[in-house]
Amino acid sequence: WPVFADDIDAILELKRQRNAVILAHNYQTPEIFHCVADIVGDSLALARKAMAVEADVIVLAGVHFMAETAKLLNPKKTVLIPDLKAGCSLADSITAADVRLLRQRYPGVPVVTYVNTSVEVKAESDICCTSSNAKILVESLGVARVIMLPDEYLAQNIAAQTDVEIIAWKGHCEVHERFTPADIRQLREDHPGVTVLAHPECPPDVVVEADFSGSTAAMSDYVGSQKPPRVVLMTECSMSDNIAVEHPDVEFIRPCNLCPHMKRITLANIHLALEQNRHEVRIEPEIAARARLAVERMLAV
Ligand code: 13P
Ligand code: SF4
Repeated sequence: WPVFADDIDAILELKRQRNAVILAHNYQTPEIFHCVADIVGDSLALARKAMAVEADVIVLAGVHFMAETAKLLNPKKTVLIPDLKAGCSLADSITAADVRLLRQRYPGVPVVTYVNTSVEVKAESDICCTSSNAKILVESLGVARVIMLPDEYLAQNIAAQTDVEIIAWKGHCEVHERFTPADIRQLREDHPGVTVLAHPECPPDVVVEADFSGSTAAMSDYVGSQKPPRVVLMTECSMSDNIAVEHPDVEFIRPCNLCPHMKRITLANIHLALEQNRHEVRIEPEIAARARLAVERMLAV
């Protein structure tokens, strides 16, 4: 803790001076999540909360698409991302031109786009979704077939829960694609009685073997409400670290995978972001208008 204390003190002071708030995703490290963040949550919660921020400055402790979403929903605020390279393998898997080609191939089929995408891809989409609301959104459209981008596994996991036909793209999350059903079987053997929770970005054969699948917020809620004696979260490592503190009676088993993009955000670069106003998210107005529509349609459902 002493190594973090100077940055924490400076960040708290700069937040006061600049009238700033820090929004942190559930995958941020505990010193960010517990010591400097004002609002924490999954992608959907961060989007909703970003829209209601009244402070002048939003620092997004998360990845780039989350900062773009905050800027779309609260465009008059200064939105800062402490490291521009905090990307996402899903967002990198598809371009706006790819979406235009898909529309030509499947004329009239609505495009449902995961928020883990660039603002340019959102601008080509009909509606966005997150892992919290994907099934509801797909069904809300009242059509027999949708294109769901870009996470192939999320699309397949939703397809297993609905009659709507889903045309998927081949993007994957580099963190969740590495979990296997064999990992789960080994865990159950090594830790009898363990409850297995899997994020829906995991491959379908992993989700099928898990006891529960849901967004990062849904996994956190599950632990809070069910209080399993032993639990493993098939997701990013900081998730268990962040919620373990609230659940001293739950044993967290920790094979997990790090997201290198989320881990680019540190106390040191949050400090610099606030001190030097970097890196400000700017979105071309015409693209912002179209992308905002897709995100707002999601929030309205
Ligand atoms: P959540 O919306 O569940 O927080 O997921 C975001 C993410 O990037 C998962 O890898
Ligand atoms: Fe993207 Fe996966 Fe990292 Fe989430 S965990 S930000 S989906 S690479």
